[in-house]
Amino acid sequence: MKDREEIPYKMIQLIRGFKDILPGETELWRHIEKVAASLFEDFGFKEIRIPVMEKTELFARSIGEDTDIVEKEMYTFPDRKGDLITLRPEATASIVRSYIQHKLYASDPVRKFYTIGPMFRRERPQKGRYRQFYQINAEVFGVGSAYIDAQLIFMLMNLFSRLSVTDTEAHINSLGCPVCRPNFRTAISEFLSSKTDALCADCQRRSSRNPLRVLDCKVPTCREAVTDAPSVLEHLCPECAEHFDILKTSLKNLDVPFVTDKRLVRGLDYYTRTTFEIQTGSLGAQNAVAGGGRYDGLVKTLGGPDIPAIGFAIGFDRLTEITGLKASDFEQKPDVFIAALGEKSQSKALEWACALNMQGIKAETAFGDSSLKSQMKRADKLAAPYVLIVGDKELEEGAVLLRNMATKEQVSVPLDNIVETLKANSLK
Ligand code: HAM
Repeated sequence: MKDREEIPYKMIQLIRGFKDILPGETELWRHIEKVAASLFEDFGFKEIRIPVMEKTELFARSIGEDTDIVEKEMYTFPDRKGDLITLRPEATASIVRSYIQHKLYASDPVRKFYTIGPMFRRERPQKGRYRQFYQINAEVFGVGSAYIDAQLIFMLMNLFSRLSVTDTEAHINSLGCPVCRPNFRTAISEFLSSKTDALCADCQRRSSRNPLRVLDCKVPTCREAVTDAPSVLEHLCPECAEHFDILKTSLKNLDVPFVTDKRLVRGLDYYTRTTFEIQTGSLGAQNAVAGGGRYDGLVKTLGGPDIPAIGFAIGFDRLTEITGLKASDFEQKPDVFIAALGEKSQSKALEWACALNMQGIKAETAFGDSSLKSQMKRADKLAAPYVLIVGDKELEEGAVLLRNMATKEQVSVPLDNIVETLKANSLK
C-alpha cells in the first residue's frame, strides 16, 4: 500500500447531475418549505416521511415497466444480499406503499399527506434537470370526487402566487378509466399502425404494448407523428366526462385559469381521469414546474383496498429558479458583534456570546487577537447592527461600550447583567 504522504491530494468533485445547495441558497429553500408546509396544513395535509430507497418492484409495478423512468432512469442496484433496490425516482409509490403497509385507511380512508425530499433519476443533466432533484409532494387518499381535484389545483396555484411565481399556466386533461381507456388504446394503436416508420425504436416497441407512452415521447419525429392522434377526451365514458366537466366548472368557480391540453398524458402509468401540469415559460425546455393527477387504481395494484387517490409533485429546484423571491431576503444577520481586546475580554466575550446565543440573540465574536479596527471591519462585513466593545479598561470600570453601527452612537452599559441589559434595551 502507498504511504499516505505519497498520494497526491486531488480534489474530489460531486457526481454529475448532483448539486450542493449552499448557504445563500438554503435560506430561500427553507422559506419555500415553510410556506408550502403552512399552506398545506391549512388545507388539512399532514407530513409523512418515507425512505429514499425501496424495493425496485415497487416502482416498476406502479410507475410502469414501459416508462422512461423505469426503463432508463432509475438508480437500481443489488444490495449486498443481491436484492434489487432503487433510489426513489418519485414519492407517490412510497406513500401508497406506506398507506397500505400501516393500514392507514383502516380508521379513516380519507388521508392527506405531504412530503418534501430528494428524488433520483438518471436523466441527461441540463438547466432545470438534475439527477438528484427535490420535490414537494401532496397526496389525497379516499376521495373520488372531482371537487378535490379542483381544490388540489387551487391550492397548488395559490402556493405559486404566495411564492411570487408568475408566468405559470395550469394544463389539465383526463386519461379516462379502465372502462373507457381500452377504447382509446385501440384507437391510438390503429392510428399508430400507419406511423411505425416515423417512430423511434422505443415507440415502435411501445406502440402495441403501451400506446399512451408514444404520446408522451419527446423525440421530435414521434411528436410530429402523433400531432393528429385521436384525443382521449373523445373517448371518455359518461362518468369520466362528467368528472372532467365538474373539474373544469369548479376551477372556473374558484377563479383558477387553466387550459385543456389533450396531449397531456404524463410520464407515469398509474394515472386515471384527471391529469395536470403547471407549465412555465421561464425555464426553457424543462417547462413543467409541477405535475400530478388521479391514480384511482394504484392502491389496489399495490396490494391494498380499492381506494381512489390524487396528488401532485412540485419540482422544488425548478420552483427556486422561477420565484421572484431571493435568498438574500431571508438571510440571517447577527444581532450584535462583540469586539474584545485582550485576553481577559476575549474570555468574557466567549461567555457573553454563549449566554446571548442561548437566549436567541445572534451574537458573534472574533475569538482572535486582532485590532479593534479589524474587529470593527468584521462587524461591518457581517452587517451587525450593534457592536459591544470591551477591553481591559472597560472590564476594570465595570462598564462596556455599545455602539449603534447605523447612528455611530455609543453608550456605556454596566457589566452586571450585561446579557439582560442587551436583551432588554437594544436588540429584541
Ligand atoms: P413528475 O411529472 O415525474 O411527477 O415530476 C413532478 C415534477 O418534478 C416535474 O414537473 C418537475 O418539475 C420535477 N422534476 C422531475 N424530474 C426532474 C429532474 N430530473 N430535475 C428536476 N426536476 C424534476 C411525479 O413525480 C409524480 N409522482 C407526481 C404525482 C404525485 N402524481 C400524483 N401524485
